[in-house]
Amino acid sequence: MKLKNGYIPENSIFITKDPRKNRWAIPFHYEAVNVRAQTLLDENIEHIKGKRILDLGCHFGTFSYIALQLGAEFVLGVDSSADLIKQAKEMFTASSVPEDKYGFIIQDVIKYLENLSEKSFDTILCFGLLYYIPDNYHFLKLLKKAAKDAIIIDTFTAYYSLIQGKDAVEANSIIKDDIFKLPVMMHSLTQAKKKYYSLPGSFKGQNKKLSFLSCPTIPLLELYFKSLGFKFRQLDWSQYLKNPQKNWQDLTSSQGKIDSHWTDLYSTDVRVSYLLNL
Ligand SMILES: C[S@@+](CC[C@H](N)C(=O)[O-])C[C@H]1O[C@@H](n2cnc3c(N)ncnc32)[C@H](O)[C@@H]1O
Repeated sequence: MKLKNGYIPENSIFITKDPRKNRWAIPFHYEAVNVRAQTLLDENIEHIKGKRILDLGCHFGTFSYIALQLGAEFVLGVDSSADLIKQAKEMFTASSVPEDKYGFIIQDVIKYLENLSEKSFDTILCFGLLYYIPDNYHFLKLLKKAAKDAIIIDTFTAYYSLIQGKDAVEANSIIKDDIFKLPVMMHSLTQAKKKYYSLPGSFKGQNKKLSFLSCPTIPLLELYFKSLGFKFRQLDWSQYLKNPQKNWQDLTSSQGKIDSHWTDLYSTDVRVSYLLNL
């Protein structure tokens, strides 16, 4: 694996304080964060260096921080979780990031984007967020309005809604592969209260707060991009894939998940990333 050092070192607080290190889907350990930084940010450096960047669903600012390390002019992080934004501010202060280089806002991204002027940012980062937005298409339209040059997306696809949970094997044994070649949206319900944040826009069901997971197939995602007039390209994860031969069904069982490497999400198209140009 070609892993550049220095986006974020192993002893950085953005690594040591992240409780998501051992999470199955997209862990936040040293290797995964750095490989994502390289593929999503450094390999698109022309859209990062010297640019004004909006980081949507920024969590506690790990990728905002790395974008600044890579020479971004300014980064604004938006997240609906007040606790995470508080932590982001503390971590940026502790890391001595100059205050004029960043800002953080607690808000639902849809509300934030609806009130934003056209072309307010050069580049928008949208990592791990699209599938939490019930109307992906409306969201993409708002991104198009807010960005001057580029949007970088890293997201789960429809396969993800089928591999979630212990019952995935039984629940999904009747789904055939052909449906994924079509432009289809797969919705599933998800608990609004996650371990590290709560989803906004939730509703009550069976005494729980629920939200939608809205996971488009790749053909649907690309149909959205085309219909909005984006030029787009899938980002290349091939140099990092440990098991390029796996498919999404290999990740449905608990044992399949235990036996997997986090990059299997990319080799199976359960997760994809794109550069969109305007
Ligand atoms: C899976 S995490 C992604 C973190 C980071 N961007 C990454 O990819 O590593 C999703 C983040 O999006 C935030 N989020 C989810 N829905 C949101 C919404 N509608 N508006 C603002 N933030 C939202 C959550 O609070 C959480 O911090």
